[in-house]
Amino acid sequence: MTSAKDGAQVTRVTIVGVGPGDSGFLTLKGKQAIEEADLVAGFETVLNVIRPFAKKAELCSMAYRNQEEVLDYAVGKAKEGKSLVVCAWGDLNVSAKELLDRVRRRVDHVELVPGISSVQIALSRSGISLEDTVFITLHRRDGAGSALEELVHYLMDGGRNVILLPRPYDLMPAGIAEGLIKEGVPGDRGMTVYQRLTHDDEQSWSGSISECAAITTEFSDLSIMVFDRPAST
Ligand SMILES: C[S@@+](CC[C@H](N)C(=O)[O-])C[C@H]1O[C@@H](n2cnc3c(N)ncnc32)[C@H](O)[C@@H]1O
Repeated sequence: MTSAKDGAQVTRVTIVGVGPGDSGFLTLKGKQAIEEADLVAGFETVLNVIRPFAKKAELCSMAYRNQEEVLDYAVGKAKEGKSLVVCAWGDLNVSAKELLDRVRRRVDHVELVPGISSVQIALSRSGISLEDTVFITLHRRDGAGSALEELVHYLMDGGRNVILLPRPYDLMPAGIAEGLIKEGVPGDRGMTVYQRLTHDDEQSWSGSISECAAITTEFSDLSIMVFDRPAST
């Protein structure tokens, strides 16, 4: 959508966080923006969440390989005066920087409608508080090396719980657990892996880091690892 500011046309796009998968976690603000949009762009799995609410919108489905082209097309329409909503998984401020930056590079003004993050669902499933928890993501453009170092640091420190987003498909729970033991993190530390939170086939596994390292079955690409703070002695 465009509007005039000081005589110049300004292109505006709304980005909505759609929640962790169950559309019951889409906010009323997000739903309203989607219902009113002329175009809604997002990855196919994200569009599946909002499809029932996109009553009049043209849906622009993106994949990793064509996201630049799809965004160029959708933003082109916004520059012609159409209202565009770009949808992101979960919340916008949790490990979603890459998509936000891609949109910001193309338009003058971005309105953000926050969503419920999978991290919040993991916190509520484990009954832990954000203030007692360190959050680390391995989805990083600059590589996961420094994030893994941080992970080892906070696990050794033991002062807080740690929530980790693994990276499909090269840095997944069993391999991460194996690496942690090699780095000297105690293997008996408790942890949980949540898979597909809020989806109908949601699952969780709890055990020790050593037990996780021995798992040979595959984890979902929607997995979150929660490492418990050790009980104080
Ligand atoms: C690029 S990050 C985006 C996170 C998203 N912005 C959020 O707030 O949930 C994608 C990662 O989030 C985690 N994730 C997202 N949804 C999930 C779900 N429903 N269950 C478990 N993990 C999930 C997985 O670790 C996945 O690889």
